[in-house]
Parts: sequence; structure tokens; C-alpha cells
Amino acid sequence: MKKIGLNELREMYLKFFESKEHLRLPSFSLVPKNDKSLLLINAGMAPLKPYFTGLQVPPNTRVTTCQKCIRTGDIENVGKTSRHGTFFEMLGNFSFGDYFKEEAIPWAWEFTTEVLKLPKDKLYVTIYLDDDEAYDLWVKKTDVDPSRIFRLGKDDNFWEHGIGPCGPCSEIHFDRGNGKINTVEEFLKAADEDRVVEFWNLVFTQFDKDESGNYNKLKNPNIDTGMGLERIATIMQGTSSIFEVDTIRAILDEVSKVAKIQYGKDEKNDISMRVITDHVRSVSFMISDGILPSNEGRGYVLRRLLRRAAKHGKSLGINNAFLYKLTDIVIDNSCGNYAELAEKRDYIKKVIKLEEERFDETIDSGMQILNEFIESLKINNEIVLSGEKAFKLYDTYGFPIELTEEILEEKDMKVDLESFNKEMQNQRERARAAREETNYMGAEDTILNKIPLEIETKFNGYNTLQTTSKVKILIKNEEFVSTMVEGDKGVIVTENTPFYSEMGGQIGDHGIISTDSFKAEVVDCKKNVAGKILHFVKILSGTIGVDNEVTLNVNEARRNNIRRNHTATHLLNEALRKVLGDHVHQSGSYVDDERLRFDFNHFEALSHEELKKVEALVNDEVVKVLNVQTQVMSLEEAKETGAIALFDNKYKDEVRVVSVGDFSKELCGGTHVSNSGEIGLFKIISEAGVAAGIRRIEAVTGPKAIAYVEAKNDLIKEITNKLRCSEKEIIHKLDLQVLELKEKDKEIAELKSKLAGSAEDEILNGCQEVKGIKLFTGVLKDVDGNALRDLADKIRNKGGECVVVLGSVVEGKVQFVSMTTREAITKGVHCGKIIKEVAAIAGGGGGGRPDMAQAGGKLPEKVEDAIGNCASILEKLVK
Ligand code: ALA
Repeated sequence: MKKIGLNELREMYLKFFESKEHLRLPSFSLVPKNDKSLLLINAGMAPLKPYFTGLQVPPNTRVTTCQKCIRTGDIENVGKTSRHGTFFEMLGNFSFGDYFKEEAIPWAWEFTTEVLKLPKDKLYVTIYLDDDEAYDLWVKKTDVDPSRIFRLGKDDNFWEHGIGPCGPCSEIHFDRGNGKINTVEEFLKAADEDRVVEFWNLVFTQFDKDESGNYNKLKNPNIDTGMGLERIATIMQGTSSIFEVDTIRAILDEVSKVAKIQYGKDEKNDISMRVITDHVRSVSFMISDGILPSNEGRGYVLRRLLRRAAKHGKSLGINNAFLYKLTDIVIDNSCGNYAELAEKRDYIKKVIKLEEERFDETIDSGMQILNEFIESLKINNEIVLSGEKAFKLYDTYGFPIELTEEILEEKDMKVDLESFNKEMQNQRERARAAREETNYMGAEDTILNKIPLEIETKFNGYNTLQTTSKVKILIKNEEFVSTMVEGDKGVIVTENTPFYSEMGGQIGDHGIISTDSFKAEVVDCKKNVAGKILHFVKILSGTIGVDNEVTLNVNEARRNNIRRNHTATHLLNEALRKVLGDHVHQSGSYVDDERLRFDFNHFEALSHEELKKVEALVNDEVVKVLNVQTQVMSLEEAKETGAIALFDNKYKDEVRVVSVGDFSKELCGGTHVSNSGEIGLFKIISEAGVAAGIRRIEAVTGPKAIAYVEAKNDLIKEITNKLRCSEKEIIHKLDLQVLELKEKDKEIAELKSKLAGSAEDEILNGCQEVKGIKLFTGVLKDVDGNALRDLADKIRNKGGECVVVLGSVVEGKVQFVSMTTREAITKGVHCGKIIKEVAAIAGGGGGGRPDMAQAGGKLPEKVEDAIGNCASILEKLVK
């Protein structure tokens, strides 16, 4: 067999199906769109669901793709087996109500036996138990030996996920062993033992399963097939594991180089190297699709993969950040088909490195907390760490449970794994409950998504704010209705509309829909899954019916504010790139009539100087009164002009390019001013971090920016009033006040020390004698701990053989200090004991050494009492 590279195999497959009139689409992003049932795309068909359900019209009824996929369900097996991986590519050919089994089966056979030239005596086919149609087609339309076809049950050969489209499937398997397999039992055993590997699944989507469990026949059955690219490459390259496939082995070799450990010498090390190889592929692809490490959703999946890989690095003895060094090899091996990898090369590296460093910090702080847990276990003579505590370490601090176990083991301790697992289970259930209930086809099952596809809704509001059009659909209370009346709330759908529907971070328009006898307020405007424009309305007066002609009027002042903010966002994007560097990419934006919010990747907070520069750059372009132009062109052309495209957007072939003079050029569907001068003024109002490596700038324009500056002016006015000075004098005046305050502090300190001095004399004069020992006591005010100690020390030095006990009331609290001399101690004096009794009287506690002790108290009114008791306390102590 000829050894075919993975990249070559992908091309062979796509070309083959192109020759069968399939449209080749590039892989969709790993981030699902409009699909709440999935965190990450996990199969070739996943991003195509709206075409299967008929919610959207496909660009062609035959499509072929190679889709990047992530599945983490079997993460524990990655590295331990030859075929598990979290990242994989799935080849697929799809029919949306076009061809069915009769074509899908012979084409699959043709590709397998004539293009790939896999020997027929190594192939087996499985079909669903009662799918005689498939059996007949395999026998009649291909030359597969009928004794190599096995019928399997629902678990193996029926594809369904909850309710929705489903159907029987047929799989093709490759036999890596010798001798013919004759029975289903033998076949299942061989599959269990990995002798037989399934590589292509043909799903015949012919039913729609409803909530009562009925399998309703679909009018237009579909075809969905999936072939694991890594798996077929394993077969074609005659290797025993996906990690031996050319492009993946290249990564593994790099891991071994970085770790300075030879592969194949020690199984434990080999597992770690394979885990790293797999995970670094997943994370590189995820980051190239705009995912960032975080504590929830897909960001958490990314963080977990990254940390898992980093942890395996530590097991290999790599202690510094290293994963980022592996990205080049991942990118070089895949960027031929995934240009986004090469485009984001530096960015991917930076995100990985940052997260690795963060993980190291996590380990450090986790270690501290774990050490505290260990100390308290020791004190209590226990050896089992509760699952709750281990879970807290894991969940709050991201500290891997395996590491907790390892460290405890070194101290002959362990984790209560059972209760830890219970906590994990609880968390999973919480997450599941939080996830919205959707069917597996993803789109929300609401009436809004059921508007017939043939109804067209056209946006004509780039150049006009008023249109008359016909009402096509009215929706009220989750139902299509024929009329709506005053007081109703619902949705109006018209053929044409100047209302912009929320999209690309720009909020939807507001306005009025009316006739002579009817008026409705549009409170929001959005699109449904199929892109139909929906006006959310409140009927103010009159009645409206389907087919009525209405006038649609967009609120102009509001639209103008939105336009200003949107164009300013483009200027800001470019200004940031100029000031901070080309690595800046938009990671999110939100534009409404009040302000604009722009999220972008950058690795540290912007300095005041940088913010000023950015703001000034934008305002420069505003005063240059630049023309804003929009042009519709092909995506290719747009890219050639250097227009900035969004991270993760799938653009159509025709795109809209918005340019502001020569300064900024961006692909954008939003509404913009026609001249930058309309922005008037641009002011940044805040800058902050929102996630690891992501900063957010909020800004205002036009009237809002003026109002912002006015508010600052008012503030300055208020300050000058309070300081009784002119604006110019503010700083000077404040400097003077600071100086004055410092002088006063000095004066206060001097006065205090004088006061203490006179108190010293008074205390020395008030000497009492208890059993031959001199006792000096005193009650002071506002003398703090340090000064009180100094005072007591001075009195002791002057007093000869003596005991000193002082109390002071500072800010409503009491402080005590007691000191004595060595001779007095030999007679039984103990300051710690004295102070304990004294402080108790003033509602406090404390203690200390025989020669010196301090304490606090909460009852200032008792301080005289407490100090007054000193003589009798001393009496008891002295022998
Ligand atoms: N959707 C089918 C699978 O993922 C082809 O196996």
C-alpha cells in the first residue's frame, strides 16, 4: 500500500466528492453558532444542522467538508489507547434532501476500494438490523462479499440524539488481523479487541423522532457521513496508532525533543507525551477560533486541556512554560488547510504562554492552601483530606486532584475520593441544569424560528430611514395571528424594512410602524435563526392585519447616535493597532445609542499615555472630516485591500467593506456615519481587563462625549468652589494643603510627646509601695501602643526596683502595658499575670512575659477601675 500523508488524504476525499457534484465548504469554526446544545463542534454535521432541519437553505443540496472537531468525553483515555484524541478532523459528504442510500453506499465503496485502494478482503460492512434496503444496495450496487456484511442493533448502527432527525446507519470497517471473520459474534469480539476499526459512518437520516418517541418518516431524507481523518490515515499509513500518523508524529517528536526524553522507552512517559501531543493540537485550534481560557463553558474546556498538558509536562520534568514552543509544529502541519492557524501564530503562542504562567502561579497558591490543610490534618491527628476541601482546591484554585493526591501520598495521607467524586457529580448536575433545554438540533424551539423560509425580509435601511411595505407575518403569544390590536405585544414581519436588526455587536433600531389608523412602537429588532427580520412591537393604537401596507419609520436621533458609535469603534480598532501593535484583534464589541464597548486582545493594562495617544489618534481622524465609504465586493478582493476581518466570522462571498478615509478599512454589515466629522468628539471613559489577555475600552461620542466633558467641567468647578481658588491654582493649593497637613502632624506628635513627658513626672510622683516593691500606675489619653511602651520603659529605668502598669484610651479602645525589673521578678512579680487580670476588668484579654506584657480592652469607662486594682493584684503575687 502506498503511504499517503494526512493532508493528501483530506484533499483526495474532498476532490472525490467534488467530482460527484458536491460543494466543498471550508471547515466551520469550532465555536457553534446559534446552537445551545453544544459547547464545541463535535461532528461534521454539527454546524450543518439548520440545513438538515430546513431552518436555513443550504448553498447547495450536496456538500462536502473536512470539519475540525473536539470531543472531550473520553479524555481519560487519551494517550492510553492508540485511537483516542480530543481533537480530530471529520471528513463528510452530505445530502440535504438530494441523494440517498442508493448513491451514498456505492460512492463510499468506490472511494474506499478504488481511490484509497483498500483491499476488499480486509473490509467489513455493518448495517442496522432491519435495514434491508441498505443490505440490498450493498449487494447490488457494490461488489462487497455479502458474507462480509453484518447486521447490528440500535447501539451500533442507529444514529440518534434525543429528539429530531435520526436514522439507521451503515459503517465500513478495516480488519488489521488475519483470517476471515464469519459471524456477528466474532466480529463484535474483533471490534472490542481493536482488531477491526470502524472508519466511515454513513447515516441515513430518514426519520424525525418526536417527543412521544414516534419515528416519523422525513419527506426529504438526508445523508450525513463521517470519516475520521486521523483514523483513515492510521489505516493508510499502516501504523498502529493515530500518534504514528505523519502530521501527528511530527508533533510527538517535538514534544520528545523539548522534554529531552526518548519516546518508546517508558510507558508512563509515553502516555504523557501523547497527551501533550493531542492537547496542544486542540488548544491551538481552539485559540485560532477565538476561544480564550476561562472558568466556564468552552473557555473552561480550553483551560482544562492546557493545564492537563502542562501537568503532564511537569511529570516529564519540564518545569517552565513549554507548550507554546510546540505550536509552531502544530501550525506548520495543518495551516495548509486551516489558514487561521498561520494568521494567528504569534497570538496563539502568547495566549498559551500566558495561561501556562498563570497555571504555575495557581500551583504555587494551591500548594500554600494544601499545606495549610495538611497542617490542620496533622494537628487533629487525621490522615484523610475531605472531598469537600480537595474539591475546593480543584474547583476554586484549579489545582489538579491528581496533584493533591500525589502530595498527600508523600505525607502518608490521602483524599476522600468518594466524597470528592460526589462533589464533582453535584457540580456536573448543576451545570446540566443551568444549560438551556434544547433539542439536539440546537436551535431554540420557538415560533420565531418557524417563519416559512420562502418569506423574504429585506433590509433597505443603509440609506433610508422610512419605507412602506406589506405585513407578512404577525406573532402574538407564541402563535401566528392574522391581526393585532391596541395593547398587544408581539412581532411584525414585513417584506422590506429600514430597521437594522441586532447584529455584529450593533443594537437593533427603534421607531414606529404605522398606517393612518394604526401605530406601533418598535422596541427591538432582531433576526431569527434563518435571518428573517423581526420587529418586536407594542401596539399603541388601532388594529393591524396580515397583508396591510404599513409605513416603517426608524428613530433618527437614536440611529445617529448608534452610527457615530459604530464608526468610532472602527477608528478605535485601527488606533489601537497603531499604538499597541498589529497583534490587536477585536474579540467582541457592542454598540448602542449611549456608548461603545470594544474588547480586544492585549496582555497588559493600557497606560494613561497610551490611552491618550489612542484617543488623540481617533479625534485626529474625526477633525479630518473623512468620507466614510461602503463598498460591496468579493471576499477575495476585500482581503486583498487589507480590510480587517473578524476573528471567527464566516463571511459570505460578497462582503461589505467600510472605509474611513485611508485610515480604517473593515468588513462590516453595520450602519455608519457618512463623514467622520459627524462623530464630533470621541472620549474614552474606561479601560479594564475582562478576561485573561482581553482588555475592554468603553467610550462615548458626539453629544454623549460633550456631556461627559461637561460633567468633568462641573466637577472642576465644584473643586475650585471648595478650595476657594481659580482652576489654575488647584494643584498649587492642594500642594500647600498637603504641606500644611504634614506640618500639623509634626506639631501633634511633638505635643503628644510633651504631654507624655508631663505624664511621666506625674506617674513617678504618684509612686505606691507594695511589699517593698514600687508600683507606678497611670491612665492616659490618645497615647498609642508604641508611645505607651516607650513611656513605661522610661519610668522603669528611672524607678529602680519597680512595677509599671499603664492604660491608655485610643479611639474608643483601651491599651495596657506592664513592665518590671529583674529583681522584682525574683520576688514573684509577673507582668503577664498582672496584665491579664487588669485587662479582664476593662473587657479584654492578653498576657505576656514576666518582664513585659501588653493587652487590649473594649471598655474605656473601666480603665480607671482596672488600673486602680493594680496594687491588690501585686499584693497577691509578691511573696
Ligand atoms: N454524524 C455521524 C458521526 O459523527 C456521521 O459519526
